[in-house]
Amino acid sequence: MLFTLLALAALPGGNALLLRDNVGRLPALGWNSWNAYHCDVDESKIMAAANQVVKLGLKDVGYEYINIDDCWSVKSGRNRTTQEIIPDPIRFPSGISGTAKKIHALGLKIGIYSSAGTGTCAGYPASMDYEALDAATFANWGIDYLKYDNCFVPQEWNDQYSACVPELSGGPYPNGTCPNLANPAPEGYDWSESNSTKRYNIMRDALLAQNRTIQYAVCNWGLAGVNSWGNGTASSWRSTGDIEQNWGRTVEILNMNSFALNSVDFWGHNDADMLEVGNGELTDAECRSHFAFWAAMKSPLIVGTDLSVLKKSLVDVLKNKFLLAFNQDDVFGKPATPYKWGTNPDWTFNATNPAEYWSGKSKEGTLVLAFNSLSANATTEIKWSEVPELKGGDRWMVTDIWSGKSLGCVKGGINETVQSHDTVGYMIGEQCGKGYMRIKNRPQ
Ligand SMILES: *[C@@H]1O[C@H](CO)[C@@H](O)[C@H](O)[C@H]1NC(C)=O
Ligand SMILES: *[C@@H]1O[C@H](CO)[C@@H](O)[C@H](O)[C@H]1NC(C)=O
Ligand SMILES: *[C@@H]1O[C@H](CO)[C@@H](O)[C@H](O)[C@H]1NC(C)=O
Ligand SMILES: *[C@@H]1O[C@H](CO)[C@@H](O)[C@H](O)[C@H]1NC(C)=O
Ligand SMILES: *[C@@H]1O[C@H](CO)[C@@H](O)[C@H](O)[C@H]1NC(C)=O
Ligand SMILES: *[C@@H]1O[C@H](CO)[C@@H](O)[C@H](O)[C@H]1NC(C)=O
Ligand SMILES: *[C@@H]1O[C@H](CO)[C@@H](O)[C@H](O)[C@H]1NC(C)=O
Ligand SMILES: *[C@@H]1O[C@H](CO)[C@@H](O)[C@H](O)[C@H]1NC(C)=O
Repeated sequence: MLFTLLALAALPGGNALLLRDNVGRLPALGWNSWNAYHCDVDESKIMAAANQVVKLGLKDVGYEYINIDDCWSVKSGRNRTTQEIIPDPIRFPSGISGTAKKIHALGLKIGIYSSAGTGTCAGYPASMDYEALDAATFANWGIDYLKYDNCFVPQEWNDQYSACVPELSGGPYPNGTCPNLANPAPEGYDWSESNSTKRYNIMRDALLAQNRTIQYAVCNWGLAGVNSWGNGTASSWRSTGDIEQNWGRTVEILNMNSFALNSVDFWGHNDADMLEVGNGELTDAECRSHFAFWAAMKSPLIVGTDLSVLKKSLVDVLKNKFLLAFNQDDVFGKPATPYKWGTNPDWTFNATNPAEYWSGKSKEGTLVLAFNSLSANATTEIKWSEVPELKGGDRWMVTDIWSGKSLGCVKGGINETVQSHDTVGYMIGEQCGKGYMRIKNRPQ
């Protein structure tokens, strides 16, 4: 079949979903309607966002997907003749295909939303038992990306065992364990045999049968051990429950993901959920940390705010060239990881004070982040000798990722006062020797 050429066969060891044109090799960049508008979505809001993505220069730095989340269809049911989901004629007067044409005309791509159950999370028609039809419909409309949620799963599709997801299993528990879990999976259980995996693979195969590349984003909230099988199913998979417009939830998700980064590499990414930059109670410092860590963990970066009112300083955060380059690096696929927890002892699972010192390798050099999880100013100390990638030297060329300014050749490391919940970050380039001019650390 011609169609099967769209998906290259699974590779030994990797077992990833490989799509044409390298789609899904790197984390997706885009915008989604949910965090800004929830169910209150229509074509004018979608097109306003798409136009802002162009106008604000977000398209120029790589943001490409404009994703419609839940509530885009006629809630009462499918077309009785064709069984297709019907786009809401009031919200989307030109149909989803009409919106898709307009988005494609801007040089952007369009995403849609459904659920691996009998209803979407807001109770609209969803794709279980209609996977082939819906995938074909989405392809006909010109869809490029599918977010596939986990609501209204019929009982006969339940998993035999319960997965330990600390936040969803009655936690928090020490170190992310779930000691009181009813019916836990036996040690070494292969979650790729689960009914959850089957539900998501049916839609994967339906998408692959289309003559159109549709990036597949699984959203099962980290359940059913998805980090262990997501690479064979989708380009990305949500590794936790939903984010909220507040710091407590953002930092809780950062903590959970910091323990789950082994499953991230080219072609398959833990999705830490869509960005809340610009939303709710998050301060500028919190938005910087949120974006820096989502980029460093190689999560998809899907903006979720009303771009027409996003202030310039936060637009600049979303466009930070060092963080985007790290997230989109085509040579190094692994995320940054913690090298020191800081406030807490190493490997402490703590939802309010997670790992604070992180590093990761990229084409441009080593990215080092230091984050203040406390509720008052604190001094962070980055010592080159503690950063695994920098063990070989004591003097390095350093660039501040927020100001873009070179600090020149820096010996030993950097002490810096960091305000509550903010993150400082440096791109560490070449080693430098005694012959280079030494620029002193910034004043405390
Ligand atoms: C996912 O699969 C791809 C392609 O086979 C592979 O390069 C990558 O390393 C895999 N990810 C992990 C975490 O093993
Ligand atoms: C259902 O599909 C048929 C055949 O394409 C079409 O004529 C009809 O208008 C559709 N009904 C709705 C409510 O969209
Ligand atoms: C899948 O669901 C069926 C029907 O409910 C159940 O019998 C079976 O144990 C489940 N399989 C797994 C692997 O969880
Ligand atoms: C698949 O799509 C391509 C590009 O849109 C088109 O050229 C080709 O004819 C299609 N193939 C089939 C079998 O429909
Ligand atoms: C968490 O696990 C690490 C190593 O696996 C251990 O050193 C640490 O003491 C544990 N912390 C708690 C609070 O149990
Ligand atoms: C998390 O860490 C902070 C800082 O060490 C500590 O005050 C807090 O009690 C910890 N939380 C839990 C639930 O252990
Ligand atoms: C940071 O400050 C402390 C206290 O002044 C000092 O001992 C340490 O050497 C400094 N570290 C670096 C990397 O400059
Ligand atoms: C916290 O640090 C910032 C600079 O990062 C400074 O402007 C502010 O005055 C400090 N606040 C306190 C309470 O020291």
